This record gives sequence, C-alpha cells and structure tokens, in this order.
Amino acid sequence: MFHLAKHARADGPTDPTGTSAPADDLDETLWRAAAAILDANWTGTYTVPSRTLYPHQWSWDAAFISVGLAHTAPDRAWRDLRSLFEAQWPDGRVPHIVFDPNVTERDYFPGPTFWGGGGTTPYPGAPPTGAQRVPVRLSSGIVQPPVHALGAWLTWLRAPGETAVAELRWLYPRLVAQQEYLATARDVDGAGLTAIVHPWESGLDNSPAWDQALAAVPADLAVLHRYARRDTQVVSSTHRPTDEDYARYLTIALSYRDQGYRDADLAGRHPFLVECPGFNALRGAAELALARIAEVVGADPAPHRARAAAITRALVDRLFDPESGLFHVRDLRTGLRGPARCVNGLLPLVLPDLPQAQVSSLVAAVTSPRFGVSERMPVPSYDRLAADFDPYRYWRGPVWFNINWLLWRGLRTHGHDALADTLRTALLGLVRDAGYHEYFHPDSGAGIGSPAFSWTAALALDLLAKPDDLD
Ligand code: SER
Repeated sequence: MFHLAKHARADGPTDPTGTSAPADDLDETLWRAAAAILDANWTGTYTVPSRTLYPHQWSWDAAFISVGLAHTAPDRAWRDLRSLFEAQWPDGRVPHIVFDPNVTERDYFPGPTFWGGGGTTPYPGAPPTGAQRVPVRLSSGIVQPPVHALGAWLTWLRAPGETAVAELRWLYPRLVAQQEYLATARDVDGAGLTAIVHPWESGLDNSPAWDQALAAVPADLAVLHRYARRDTQVVSSTHRPTDEDYARYLTIALSYRDQGYRDADLAGRHPFLVECPGFNALRGAAELALARIAEVVGADPAPHRARAAAITRALVDRLFDPESGLFHVRDLRTGLRGPARCVNGLLPLVLPDLPQAQVSSLVAAVTSPRFGVSERMPVPSYDRLAADFDPYRYWRGPVWFNINWLLWRGLRTHGHDALADTLRTALLGLVRDAGYHEYFHPDSGAGIGSPAFSWTAALALDLLAKPDDLD
C-alpha cells in the first residue's frame, strides 16, 4: 500500500518529482500518468471529463473525479464538488451538465441553448444571468446518479482536517437537498424508488436496459436533423449511440424541457419513466455516506441509515428478478420489468445491508459466463451471451471503469476479497496496456471513446492506493 499523504498536495498540479515512490515501478508510472491527466483536465475550478468529447462539467464525473483527486490534490476535489453544487437548482436537483460559458455551442451538443430553449437563465424562474452579480453557469435540467456524498466522504477520509470539515459543512445541506429531491419529486410510483426521466440520467445512456421503454418513443430523425450531433464528429459513430436512439433522447429531453422541467404529474404526460437499480443503489449508498458525514458535522445520522435501509428493501421488492438472479429496470408506463441483463443490475452490491440471497446471486453473476471477471478482463456493461452484445457501442458491451470500481467496492463490502482483487488486477491491467480511455473493448481490451478520460484516471489512482476503508 502507498503512503498516501506523501502523494497528496494541497493545490496546483501534481508534483511529477514527488519523492515517495511505491514499491512497484510500473505502478508509479501508472500513478503519475493518471495524476497528469487530472492536471491536464483541470480548468481552474473543476475538471472536464475529456478535453475532446466533454468540455464542460458533468455531475457524476465530478464525484468519481473527487475520489482520485482526494489522493493527489484534495483541495481540487473539494473545489470540483463545490463548483458542481454552486449550480444546484432551488428544488435540490443537481444538473447533469454545468456549462462553461467560454466553450462555444459548436464544441458540445446538446449545449445550453438546447437545454434552456434559447433562454438565458440557469433554471426556470431564475433571473437572467446578466442581472446577477456572480454569473451563474447555465445547465441541463436532468440529473445523474448521486455519487457525490460518497465522493465527499472518501475525500474527507483520505485528507481529513479543518478545510475538509468546512467543506463538509458547506456540502452537507446541499447533498441532503439533492437526496430529498430524488426521494420526493421523483418517486413517481410512491414506492420508495426514484424514477429517471431520461436514459442519460442513469449515466448508462444507450444500455439495452432502456430498449423496451424506448421502443414506445418515436425515433423521429427529423428531430435529430434540426440539430447537429457533435460526438460522432469526435469519435467513431460505431462507438456511440445510434442516430435512432439519439433522436429518441432529444424527443424525451424536449418533452421535459417544454414542460419547464416540472415533475408534477409526470406519470400522465412524460414519455420515459423508469426505475433503475443502479441509480437507486447509488442513492442508497449516498444515504450511508451522508450518515457518516452527519457524524462529522454534528447532524443526526439515524434518518440517513433508515432511508438507506428502506431503499434496499424497495430495490429487492420491486427490481430483483429471482429467475435471472439480477436486478432489472422497471418501466413505470407499463409496470413491466425490462428483460435485458445489464451491469446496472449488479450495482446493488454496493449496499452493505443487501440480503445474503441477493448478494450470492449477484456474485454468481459476476463470475458467470455472462459477466465473468478474470485477471485479464473486468465486467462488461452487458450480458456477453446476449445476441445483441456489441463490444464497441458505448454501454452495450464495452467495459467501463466507474462501474467496475463500484463493483470492486461492493465485493469487498460483502467479504469477497479474492474476487475483488481479481477485478482490481484486471482493471489496472487494462489501463496499463491501453491507457486511461473512456471505455474498453471487452475482448481485446483496446481503448475506445475518448482518451485521457478523467474518471478512469481518478479511479485508477484509488485502485492503486488500495485504501483499506470501505465506509
Ligand atoms: N453522456 C451523454 C453524452 O454523451 C449525455 O450526457 O454527452
């Protein structure tokens, strides 16, 4: 294990001549390369996921990035989270993208004009940005999985001190408001689970998990042709969602936007309402992280623990399929559980109070031919045995680092240390051979999507450091 404190710097770029070398030279090379990517993607107030593909701030990226910055530059971890939560809406939602006003609309689509409908306010009802003394960055109106409390808690654990306490005090009420929004405005069925209103909210944009619900949304290419996709100009179109799916994404986003991003009466009017096991598992994990943060800032941890337990129960009751042995999405417009076996169905492993029957079932899936981990390859994003498994296309097969990092933690939480070690070896092997890519071919391990991807680098730092804490 590394001596983490020697790697941590209060601020500024990571020192490439740092004196503390880990025992393994190869790991030191990996460490420095990862830290250099986080330095290069730092804007001064937050970290972009990728200079080429994602030139703004993304919500769950910021959380994963904080986990890595906690090791090398904790002040930047706090600044990153603060930048994101400065753009939180008054209703508690934390937008999935917060836009850099200095980046042109041509550099990312859908940008602020799309999300704002041409308006100049960060959220409905806000004064125009020009009228405010402190410019507020514009944002999208949808959310992403709430991993931020975990990021904040891990940053505190790895670099505690007075600054960290002050940052936790600032963040705590904002994190609570984020959870409150997801637990109330988005509990569309009233059963204790959050519904997402767009596949992008899951973070697993084009996962087969959404195919059944998306089939009811018209793939109107005329909608798409009113705009210009930017992503497929930067990376191969065979590695990104199809035009048909993209047309559906825009249709759903426009429906939500044109109703002012209101959540009242979603059930009657919105074309996409789905409960996602990954999103809700991470919401449960956030409550447990908030319980720990509450202890530091002098708040009551008990309600957070009770909420986490309730989320775990609702997940098991509503989304676990004993036949497949996995958790599946539920389409609230039809009441049906989706048939696809996807990696978000494994994520409830992050919950420490998941009943043993479900833990055993998920561990069996992690080692099965469908998702099987080996020292050479982590878990793919989709069932390898499915007829439409696609090793290149975004969330329909490729290996993603953030999900595997969460599974690594989940396996350790439930005492499966040997399997967790195998997964860690596979993850570090991938980046050693292919570099810090956005995602990876699930057979060859080749890097796909954007190179120099922030969360891959950040989470590799955490894997390299292999902290003992799992709280
Ligand atoms: N992940 C989506 C993108 O490709 C939406 O945020 O931009």
